[in-house]
Amino acid sequence: MTAQLNPRGDVAVLVPAAGSGTRLGPGAPKALRLLGGEPLLVHALRRICRAPSVAAVVVAAPPDEVAAVRAMLAAVAPVTVVAGGAHRQASVAAALAAVPADLPIVLVHDAARALAPPDLVESVAAAVRAGAEAVIPVLPVVDTIKEVGPDDAVRGTVDRSPLRAVQTPQGFRRQVLAAAHAAAVDPLTDDAGLVEKQGVRVTCVPGSEHALKITRPFDLLLAEHLLATE
Ligand code: C5P
Repeated sequence: MTAQLNPRGDVAVLVPAAGSGTRLGPGAPKALRLLGGEPLLVHALRRICRAPSVAAVVVAAPPDEVAAVRAMLAAVAPVTVVAGGAHRQASVAAALAAVPADLPIVLVHDAARALAPPDLVESVAAAVRAGAEAVIPVLPVVDTIKEVGPDDAVRGTVDRSPLRAVQTPQGFRRQVLAAAHAAAVDPLTDDAGLVEKQGVRVTCVPGSEHALKITRPFDLLLAEHLLATE
């Protein structure tokens, strides 16, 4: 299947997948781990490309894997594959540099959230289109959260009512993301975290249970079930 991206769309989606462990074949790390016989990256791209607002998708791959990743994705969707950088932020910046100049909204998505539905892409993009400078999908925290010391002793119970678990895609006015990356100094933070540090207001929209991060064996089992019932 070749997804046709909407030429009238106003959204570019960046997928940083250039982690050093990223390689094709057995033992592949997160982005290329198989779910239902296909890499997580492929599942993620299929759903992104089904979102009607999306005009362009840029994947950052390890520099020595660009040709292989491009070949793997050619049959999936018309996406651009660029060489990533030394760390995640550099990979996002490299992908951002390849976004067509006329697209005002940029989303950054984690391939490990492979089942994030097209509706979630649309709702994040819609919030940016409606005027938000930065948007993150969130879910309420359902577990009780304790602060624990190095001796395993509980120090206190955290009020979870203002806490939210953050997902991707995270959405931005293009200039806001570009400015945050130009000033970025903290390689540990997410894209919305960089933008926060610029003093930009970050707005929350409801996330999706289907956008779970598929990292542990249990997540993979859950994702296989979700895939079978989609
Ligand atoms: O290594 P870590 O789990 O922090 O990576 C998070 C995401 O950033 C992964 O999808 C990884 O492929 C991506 N990444 C990247 N370029 C790097 C390092 C990580 O695109 N140089």
